[in-house]
Amino acid sequence: MDAISIIRAKRDAQPLTDPQIDWIIDAYTHGTVADEQMSALAMAILLNGMTRREISRWTAAMIASGERLDITGALAAGTAQTPHATATPGAPGTPGARGATPGPTTDKHSTGGVGDKITLPLAPLVAACGATVPQLSGRGLGHTGGTLDKLESIPGWRARLSNAEMLDVLRSAGCVVCAAGDGLAPADRKLYALRDVTGTVESIPLIASSIMSKKIAEGTGSLVLDVKVGTGAFMKTVEDARELATTMVGLGTDHGVRTVALLTGMSTPLGLTAGNALEVRESLEVLAGGGPADVVELTLALAREMLDAAGLADADPAKALADGSAMDAWRRMISAQGGDPDAPLPTSRHQHIVTAPATGVVTRLDAYDVGVAAWRLGAGRARKEDPVQAAAGVELHAKPGDEVTKGAPLMTLHTDTPDRFDYATEALTTSYDIAPLGTEVPVAPIVRERIA
Ligand code: URA
Repeated sequence: MDAISIIRAKRDAQPLTDPQIDWIIDAYTHGTVADEQMSALAMAILLNGMTRREISRWTAAMIASGERLDITGALAAGTAQTPHATATPGAPGTPGARGATPGPTTDKHSTGGVGDKITLPLAPLVAACGATVPQLSGRGLGHTGGTLDKLESIPGWRARLSNAEMLDVLRSAGCVVCAAGDGLAPADRKLYALRDVTGTVESIPLIASSIMSKKIAEGTGSLVLDVKVGTGAFMKTVEDARELATTMVGLGTDHGVRTVALLTGMSTPLGLTAGNALEVRESLEVLAGGGPADVVELTLALAREMLDAAGLADADPAKALADGSAMDAWRRMISAQGGDPDAPLPTSRHQHIVTAPATGVVTRLDAYDVGVAAWRLGAGRARKEDPVQAAAGVELHAKPGDEVTKGAPLMTLHTDTPDRFDYATEALTTSYDIAPLGTEVPVAPIVRERIA
């Protein structure tokens, strides 16, 4: 087997054989295939695609490059000896408030968007309804935020946990949000970094296998995919989003993970905030029974899918938001990961208000532009090793359908480094439209399609 003949085969649009796929993934993981050879192959895949069989084998090979966790088995085996598991509920915000028998595991993955803080209220909400939610998450890169960056704005909270610590948090809180360990799908870690710098991210076979290899290796029993579509998403058209969703659902099913996908709108930011601490604050509003309607709607839609996939369709997530049990699960999870759920969140040192240039009704607010502005304010990073500002971001005062008055605040920009304001406002100059009062603004449903 050699890399050049595999590159040539895909360059000439031939399907790769199972042994070719197994060999190239293994050889790349171990450094015998060079980055430039893998780059050429990734570009050939981007241009010529892969069959369903090839994608499935590619995914299996990436899973096999590292460890495969068995969270359900580990939780069941450890139930008797875990120090945190108790048969009776404890006080809110303290470990030990979870029942002794772990619920079925279920997870959610979003393909990434602007203001997408849904994991924060969703994981404790679904845990409060009886499921176990192991949520291995990532950091933001480019204009989309990262769940770990958001949670790190909570004083003391830790993203990096050992497998044993992760299981302990799951036992005590029913949910955990943490960084994926280095042992999980190492082939994907290498390949994703390479794709990032070779213009080969936007390939449906490569995105689907990258996401699903990590999720399958994590060992969840069921998975709900939130596939974003619109200006602020990877997938700009419903057709592409549908193809990505169908491919990922097929991969999950092939590997014994019950998988469902929702296609959801991402042309307008979710909620009223984009930025790390700003989004934590908004998530707390949702957990307290309030929050913006679109965030609540999507959180509940995804919670119902996760509970259904986990065999807990009778649970009522709306009740768990209203009665405070989701907030209790949040407090347990944050405490169990070293965070202080009562500590004040960081606030920005400088603010700049963007005002409405006319009186009227907002008809468009572009998710991509708002994401870029938040990133330029310091909420995101350009390179993986860059730090992020916890308090930076964009706070929206109006969304499509809202009326605004000339001179009234449209957005507040937050940063600790005010020299960023000019660059951020530049991204927002054509980010919204205001039409005369009385203009009808069609309201698109947040969930566009369900693929199972
Ligand atoms: N997220 C991933 O994990 N992989 C991709 O290829 C794209 C988004």
